Amino acid sequence: MGDVIVGQGLTKVYGTTHKTHALKGVDLNVQKQEFLSIIGQSGSGKSTLLNLLGLLDRPTEGSLELVGTDVGRLSKRERAAFRNEHLGFVFQFHHLLPEFSVRENLLMPGWIGGQRASLGAARARADEMLELLDLGDVKDKRSNDLSGGQKQRVAIGRSLMNSPDIVLADEPTGNLDTKNTEQVYSLFRRVHEEWGTTFVIVTHDRSIAEQTDRIVEVRDGRIEQDVRNEHLATSGSRPRTP
Ligand SMILES: Nc1ncnc2c1ncn2[C@@H]1O[C@H](COP(=O)(O)OP(=O)(O)OP(=O)(O)O)[C@@H](O)[C@H]1O
Ligand SMILES: [Mg+2]
Repeated sequence: MGDVIVGQGLTKVYGTTHKTHALKGVDLNVQKQEFLSIIGQSGSGKSTLLNLLGLLDRPTEGSLELVGTDVGRLSKRERAAFRNEHLGFVFQFHHLLPEFSVRENLLMPGWIGGQRASLGAARARADEMLELLDLGDVKDKRSNDLSGGQKQRVAIGRSLMNSPDIVLADEPTGNLDTKNTEQVYSLFRRVHEEWGTTFVIVTHDRSIAEQTDRIVEVRDGRIEQDVRNEHLATSGSRPRTP
């Protein structure tokens, strides 16, 4: 109980003639409100796993339950709706709409997804998000005119607009310098602590992974190690790196 992700025997084979066994039967349970990282070498299967968890791709074999729903049974349309309602994504390349303002980038997914909340509520949410992300001063700028760190914060804001249960992030700071990387992770932490959002973060950077509460290591399509960082798991006042 309390598991928001229950993956069993997750297998992914790419290709037909030249087969790549990217995932070879992964069991992964994630509890509500966990803050965990997935690490592993390039090609080990991290993105493949995250894409399955995010319903961006289907497993060749295995079952997946998210927030109590057996997502393998959902139709394409139901999967899209489920993603909209429960999941948020942050990618290495932020995929913003360059010609639109920061604020519009936050509001856009809701417009497209036919959000039930009123426009007023969505705008209020966007403004709250802009404050949280320290983007209040640039909210009317074209997203193309922002710095890399600012762009990534917009992408994070966009992923949080619909109050997802789970945020899935694939190398979210892969293109950022140390200062912006720290800012992104302290933001994730804040959201995690304030709203109880579950975070699953793929990174190849062990020093980043060590700031999360649980580290799942993938190697050659299998989970090699799964360790809890107990000493860090206490929320709140962890010492900041100088
Ligand atoms: N669409 C695809 N078609 C064929 N093979 C793929 C595809 N996507 C990934 N693979 C293969 O599956 C394996 C796992 O890839 P994956 O992208 O999951 O690795 P990763 O751990 O995310 O690596 P990186 O750290 O470089 O992002 C690799 O051998 C890769 O070449
Ligand atoms: Mg990857």
